[in-house]
Amino acid sequence: MARLDTITLMESKNPKNKIFPKDFLWGGSTASHQVEGGTYNQWTVWELENAARLAKEAENSTRYLSPVWDEIKDEATNPENYISGKGVEHYERYEEDFELLLKLNLNAFRFGIEWSRIEPEEGKWDSHAIEHYRVYILELRRLGIKPVMNIWHWTLPVWFTDKGGFEHGRNLSHWRRFVEKVAHEYGDLLEYVITLNEPNVYTTHSYLMGFWPPAQKKIFKAGMVYYNLVRAHRQAYGILKDKNPDLQIGIAAQLANIQAKRPRNIFDVIVTQIMRYAWNWWFLRRTRHHQDFIGLNYYFTDYYKLHKRENPKVPLNDLGWYMEPEGLYPLLLRTWTHFKKPIFVSENGLADQGDDYRRWWIEETIVAMQRALSEGVELKGYFHWSLLDNFEWAQGWWPKFGLVAVDRKNGMKRTIRPSAEWLAKKIKDLSE
Ligand code: BGC
Repeated sequence: MARLDTITLMESKNPKNKIFPKDFLWGGSTASHQVEGGTYNQWTVWELENAARLAKEAENSTRYLSPVWDEIKDEATNPENYISGKGVEHYERYEEDFELLLKLNLNAFRFGIEWSRIEPEEGKWDSHAIEHYRVYILELRRLGIKPVMNIWHWTLPVWFTDKGGFEHGRNLSHWRRFVEKVAHEYGDLLEYVITLNEPNVYTTHSYLMGFWPPAQKKIFKAGMVYYNLVRAHRQAYGILKDKNPDLQIGIAAQLANIQAKRPRNIFDVIVTQIMRYAWNWWFLRRTRHHQDFIGLNYYFTDYYKLHKRENPKVPLNDLGWYMEPEGLYPLLLRTWTHFKKPIFVSENGLADQGDDYRRWWIEETIVAMQRALSEGVELKGYFHWSLLDNFEWAQGWWPKFGLVAVDRKNGMKRTIRPSAEWLAKKIKDLSE
């Protein structure tokens, strides 16, 4: 304990430890479908069709993964858990949520816009929805919070998926029309735009493993979708830049800190190299001439023994994910070495309903970022996932990722978690 105190004391006395640039963005992040409520897209349809099945399967799937199964089993076995429904009513309560950002000393916010709201029918724009996001962005700006807009976070209008979504190159004309509209409406109000969220996760979960809509396991189709998303990003980049050349545009890529379990074992090393390339770099390399920054979503450090993941048994978050927050440091260095572009940690966080690990996770993450900055990595911001408890896709509502807890059974009451209070203070200290 005494040693810990000394370190804290040294840190506060040593200005060199305050390595975060003055204009560093400290943000929260969300995605439209996960918080807004009242959306109608391919996920909404899929949830209704699959809620009962997911609840039934939880006993066999989630039970063996989650270290908090006993506490969450009632929720996880209830079909209601798997329906996004009213979300956390962020669509209506966004002003209240922006106040929370201010309370937490956050100066930036990553949010999603919902294509299915803006273009509910093919070629027909919803002026209310368009206006909604305009007012939303303006409100963030008025409060001095930097808006970081995410155009696509996995949800698609049903009319678009009826045509096969991103499976067909010809459908990109619909995407382009949508991005043109977005550029026209919001291009002048923004500095930062993320086009696509985690194309690797979307493609594998929806087209290879069949976990998410359209629940397919087709390797060829997966390849097509992945490549079409490369094209979608490049096209969006061009459209947005034409509208506003000052816009800073990137992707939020899910990158893992992939390591060899036995660093001297040639097979582990080869698998590690292949996995790093396939999972982390393939997409980014194909889009590198169309990126002003790299958005990096960090959750996972994975150790490979031959072709199998073999991670330490603890600590695990509520979803059973092995947690190694400090793995962000080598990953930041590697990403910087590969691309030499400014980096944002565009997502980072954990499912932790008891708020037992969140403070530790964030603290380790801040140290990892300090180290990377000290090594010359051009790191420009950090966005915690998530600002609010939200709808965790096929796992539904039980995993709690929020800096702010939301009680959906109690008028959607928002309560700042202790770890978030701590973060708010830390940001203040680091910014002084
Ligand atoms: C996604 C989020 C998701 C989070 C936690 C990220 O991969 O972008 O939508 O909620 O991980 O699983």
